[in-house]
Amino acid sequence: KKTILTGIKPTGKIHLGNYIGAIKPALDLAKIPDYKAVYFVADSHGLTKIHTPNELRELSYGIAATWLALGLNPDKVIFYRQSDIPEIFELNWLLSCFTPKGLMNRAHAYKAIVDSNRESNKDIDFGVNMGLFNYPILMTADILMFKTEVVPVGKDQVQHVEIARDIAESFNHTYGETFLLPEYKIQEDTAVLPGLDGRKMSKSYNNTIPLFEEPKKLEKLINKIKTDSLPPEAPKDPDTSILFMIYKEFASPNEIAKMREEYAKGISWGEVKRELFNVMNHFIEEPREKYNELMASPSTIDKILQEGADKARSISAPFLKEIKRKIGFYA
Ligand code: TYM
Repeated sequence: KKTILTGIKPTGKIHLGNYIGAIKPALDLAKIPDYKAVYFVADSHGLTKIHTPNELRELSYGIAATWLALGLNPDKVIFYRQSDIPEIFELNWLLSCFTPKGLMNRAHAYKAIVDSNRESNKDIDFGVNMGLFNYPILMTADILMFKTEVVPVGKDQVQHVEIARDIAESFNHTYGETFLLPEYKIQEDTAVLPGLDGRKMSKSYNNTIPLFEEPKKLEKLINKIKTDSLPPEAPKDPDTSILFMIYKEFASPNEIAKMREEYAKGISWGEVKRELFNVMNHFIEEPREKYNELMASPSTIDKILQEGADKARSISAPFLKEIKRKIGFYA
């Protein structure tokens, strides 16, 4: 079986970008019998940013509860907290010895901070901790540890998967075939979901729509999505509309076809927003309830993640041993 793996870091509430770009496709892939799915809460990646224990804990439960509420079946998917798998952190160090520093200098997330610091005349590394700098190496360890072949992610993570391939190749070149080379899988049309202000929807831009928002707030947020100033009766192009992009992730094929017609005929943005709210709110009603239930029972989540960690370690522990022997360590 091919391993598919993906993680989400607890640096904010799960938003529509996470859901449409990663969770939804990952849950669909997990249903394919040829795949073995490995999904996790990337809490150690979250630590690069969140330094308040209660917040980190709550956000981590939030990620786990979201997956479970949306139907992840922990009997079929290996589902764990990253920080429960010590082998990943050992591998992280080993891999860092095969990673040229220049490769990390070129990583988008780090480069973006450097560029913005330069612009505001700060020290280029202002606000950068080593965890953030090394972020792609830890992500590489996440991926290679489980011999992952497919990584379903949004577009912003593509470079990280390419880095994982580079590091794997470099290791294999020195020690012989050890790691599988992973491939990313993005949803072409929703690889980057825009947020309320039109930029990429992102926890760090504060422009998100949380997936499990309560109805009133959800409606308000949907109303904030930017549209053009075409009059209500003007025909509109669904394929360039953020509202349609989201709509089609929650509506039935019939509803989608009908909405396409409405766009062509001319429908007001207000009406489009109302329809989007209805369809989305209907879809999330049940999972939102399940989510709230799970959040009120953290011990249920802990138990599921613990069992997942045991399964994950039954793979990572022997593989790490094999890797250590290869490089000349006693293991
Ligand atoms: P994170 O937590 O930032 O995002 C989780 C997933 O959501 C996707 N995503 C989006 N997709 C489309 N449009 C958007 N606006 C949008 N915003 C976020 C991300 O691409 C991602 O797939 N480094 C990862 C976590 C991670 C990981 C891994 C992923 C750690 N180890 C190993 C895969 C494999 C991250 O920060 O994702």
